[in-house]
Amino acid sequence: MLTMTKSECLPAFKEALSLQHKLMDSMKFTFYGHACFMVELKGKKILFDPFIRYNDLAKEVDFDSILVDYIFLSHGHEDHVADAFDIAMKNDATIVSNYEIVTWFQKKGVKNTHPMNHGGAWNFDFGTVKYVHAVHSSALPDGTYGGNPGGFVVESDSKTFYYSGDTALTMDMKLIPLTSKKLDFAVLPIGNNFTMGAQDAVLAAEFVDVSKVIGVHFDTFGYIKINHAIAKEVFASKGKELILLNIGECIEL
Ligand code: NI
Ligand code: MN
Repeated sequence: MLTMTKSECLPAFKEALSLQHKLMDSMKFTFYGHACFMVELKGKKILFDPFIRYNDLAKEVDFDSILVDYIFLSHGHEDHVADAFDIAMKNDATIVSNYEIVTWFQKKGVKNTHPMNHGGAWNFDFGTVKYVHAVHSSALPDGTYGGNPGGFVVESDSKTFYYSGDTALTMDMKLIPLTSKKLDFAVLPIGNNFTMGAQDAVLAAEFVDVSKVIGVHFDTFGYIKINHAIAKEVFASKGKELILLNIGECIEL
């Protein structure tokens, strides 16, 4: 028979409770290649920057099995919006992006949309999202003006994170910890050439006050092929963790 004194039992109870909290607070994160990922918050599936069927590295992903409630688009470039229309139509999903991008999808026939612009936040049914500055460009695939590129700060009861979208390192990132809950992690491009490389991304992580970074926007094209070990070392040397997921890999955060 297992007997515990009150003083022995309490730490075990506390540990079980904290494990339970951890499970309740955890969030599923799936990487679909390039800068495309899905998170699940309050039972809602939220997809970011879908570029799957056109990504040679993502051929193993079962595209038809991707069922989502929301599609968030950081900017208009093809490597971020290529699959958005088909996924939105198939799932009746809501496209959330800047006003110009949302209007372009409305004209194509997407019914559920939510337009935003920089500095504005909205309370969705899974949490609050703020559309924040990115330093990049944003034409849509047919050349239509795609508004200003951005990123998203997602605050929820479980996790709070920042997805920067394609961007250079910018001082504006310093505004994020002043205006949001403490971030649990950030999703940052690390491929260099079109966006920040690892050296600048680790400074971005310092600017937004986060220690855990999931790297995106690397290896897809020749210009952005990187050495994973070196990128991780750049982060480790500043006491930060760089997580590089395999395409299709799902983790709990
Ligand atoms: Ni881009
Ligand atoms: Mn891009």
